Amino acid sequence: MLLPPQIPYPDKYDECRRRGSEEKQANARPEIKDKISNLDQYNNIIVGYPIWHGDLPMIMYTFFESNNFDGKNIYPFVTHEGSGIAHTDEKIQNTVPNAKVADGLEVRGIKAQALEKTTKAKISTWLDLNKLIK
Ligand SMILES: Cc1cc2nc3c(=O)[nH]c(=O)nc-3n(C[C@H](O)[C@H](O)[C@H](O)COP(=O)(O)O)c2cc1C
Repeated sequence: MLLPPQIPYPDKYDECRRRGSEEKQANARPEIKDKISNLDQYNNIIVGYPIWHGDLPMIMYTFFESNNFDGKNIYPFVTHEGSGIAHTDEKIQNTVPNAKVADGLEVRGIKAQALEKTTKAKISTWLDLNKLIK
């Protein structure tokens, strides 16, 4: 499920970086357009996001704070350009203390876009380790 932001992020990288930076400095909670109605049906939730300014994009805090993840397993995966997962799995755990957050998967954005063989293998290993569907 793809949850779009209420105000779309700019396609241009520099403009997007600027907005991301402003949101982080303001500790903002940008609005998400749609609500998830059927979270109750799921126990295992795979959540993907890019690393922005060494953190989750602030809109991801909106997502975690506005849904009930009590008792659920969360599997984070991130794309980044050098920061790795940047402790964002721990930040999610702090945000939803009654969920169980697994060790996340990190992939460089450029490798994710190319979906190289090694990247595919890394994703498969992570899915296998966590006993998630391929
Ligand atoms: C607002 C913004 C901030 C970013 N900050 C970081 C960062 O701190 N560390 C990093 O490794 N990459 C950073 N990046 C690069 C993104 O993680 C990278 O573009 C993304 O993972 C690739 O996925 P995409 O194709 O969806 O953009 C940043 C990108 C944007 C737009």
